[in-house]
This record gives sequence, structure tokens and C-alpha cells, in this order.
Amino acid sequence: MSDFAIIYDRIRPDEKMLFDALDALGISYEKVYAPQLKFTFGQTLPWKVALERCVSQSRGHAITIALEGLGVRVVNPSHVIEVCGDKLATNAALARAGVPTPKTGVAFEADAALELIEEFGYPVVMKPTVGSWGRLLSKINDRDAAESIIEHKEVLGGYQHHVYYIQELIEKPERDIRAFVIDNVCIGAIYRTSGHWVTNTARGAKASNCPVTPDIAELAVAAALAVKGEIVAIDLLECPKRGLLVNEINHTMEFKNSVSTTGVNIPKLMVEYAMRYV
Ligand SMILES: Nc1ncnc2c1ncn2[C@@H]1O[C@H](COP(=O)(O)OP(=O)(O)O)[C@@H](O)[C@H]1O
Ligand SMILES: [Mg+2]
Repeated sequence: MSDFAIIYDRIRPDEKMLFDALDALGISYEKVYAPQLKFTFGQTLPWKVALERCVSQSRGHAITIALEGLGVRVVNPSHVIEVCGDKLATNAALARAGVPTPKTGVAFEADAALELIEEFGYPVVMKPTVGSWGRLLSKINDRDAAESIIEHKEVLGGYQHHVYYIQELIEKPERDIRAFVIDNVCIGAIYRTSGHWVTNTARGAKASNCPVTPDIAELAVAAALAVKGEIVAIDLLECPKRGLLVNEINHTMEFKNSVSTTGVNIPKLMVEYAMRYV
């Protein structure tokens, strides 16, 4: 029995690092395997707080909602997952808060999507609104490619692929910045460097330390505030014309490449944040 649960569906190096951080702090906790969970509303759970770490975003979201209904404080809360798990919702929240992002638009059927792309001018970036690890991102350089990608999405994709989320391509240096924010403090950042325009480490980009400048800290915290993120990783793009822009916000952040790189004990800070709700 323990007040603190870590909800996981796969033990990545990141989860191992969280377990190690809890052990080092002498905190008793329960490792909870998400796929086997079942709940009945009204039941009493042993946990006061849960750190939600599911790789499956939809499962993590559903479990978070159920846990909240049973009185457990989940980090991040479901309202954060709802915004950060959807790039359109994230961009809407950032726009409302006046946080700078790449120019972004959305259309809801094929002809309107093509018109929107032509209005933006080539090249444009198209992304699924739900997704990660740089998957299914398209850089569209001309009308032929636009028509082809739209048709593929229209014919082969489910409804979620019929929301056409479009951005200007930012001519960034061969890297982006990932800034980690816990409790509205930017605790560290890395550069992710790659010869490819998609700079996810899952796609082979190399992580190196990025000194947290006042500009990075200010923008990362403004982005976290806009989505009420408690433990979040903010992707920033360095635009040669407009300076730093917020690209997206990750609510189940991966940090395995960032602890030795930054020298910041990220898992310890995550656990200490969640422990305040015990
Ligand atoms: N509008 C853009 N301009 C330039 N590069 C981009 C743009 N959007 C995404 N990228 C690149 O692709 C990467 C992945 O995009 P992102 O929106 O973060 O999707 P994911 O959720 O898959 O990580 C970014 O880290 C960045 O390197
Ligand atoms: Mg990203």
C-alpha cells in the first residue's frame, strides 16, 4: 500500500529513472501496470497521487479521467492531456494566450485544405493533430505533393486525418530546442540536432545541452501556463525572422537523453513535484 502510484504501460529508460529517483528519495510507491487496471466509481483507492506515464496517450487520458473521478490527483491532470495531446488544441491555447508559434492554420476537408496551403505558399508542413516522435509529418514543397498527401489522407485516413493542420516551415538551424518546465520553472533545455528537418531524437537527432537563456525560460513558462501544464516539455523553434517560437508541448515528457546532457536531475524534480499532493 502506498500513496504514490506510477501508472505505466511500458517501462522505458525514463520510467526506470523515475523508479530510481523514488528509491533514492526513500519514497514508497506502487508501480501500476495500466493495461490491467479496472475501476468502479465509488471504490476506494490507496493512492493520493499518480504520475501518469503511459506511452499510449488515449489510455493514459482515459485512466487519468477515471482516477480523478475516484479522488486521485494525477500529474498531469486530464485537462492538460486534452490540450497537449492535440496539436490543434495546443495551438488554440497558445494563440489565446498570445504565445508566438509558427503561423498555423486548419481546414476540415480536402478542397479547403488545398486552398489553405496555397494561401500559405510553399513549402508548408502538415501534421496529424494527434501524434508524436515525428511520425507522419509532411513537408509539402509544391501543389502536386499537396494534392497527393491530401488525397491519401482523405481516402486512407480515419476522421482524425481529415483535420488538416498546416504550418509555415520555419527555416531553423539544424536543430530545435526542448525546454523542460516543472511547476512553471524552466529547469533545463537541450538542443536536438539533425541534418533532417524533423529533429526528434526518436528520428535520430542528437541531444546536447542548451543553456537556458532568459528568453527561453520566459517563453517556455508562458507556454506551460497557457496549457496549465505542470510537468511539460516545450518544443521551441529558432526562427531567423521572428526569434523563438513554440512548436508543441508534450505532457508525458521523455527525458532519458537530457539528464546527463543538462546535468539536471529531471526525474528527481518530477517526483518531488508530484509528492506535494501526497
Ligand atoms: N513548422 C515547422 N517548421 C520547421 N520544423 C518543424 C515544424 N514543425 C515541426 N518541425 C520539426 O519536426 C519536429 C517534430 O514536430 P512536432 O510538431 O514536435 O511533432 P511530434 O509531436 O511528432 O514531435 C520538430 O521537433 C521540428 O524539428
Ligand atoms: Mg515534438
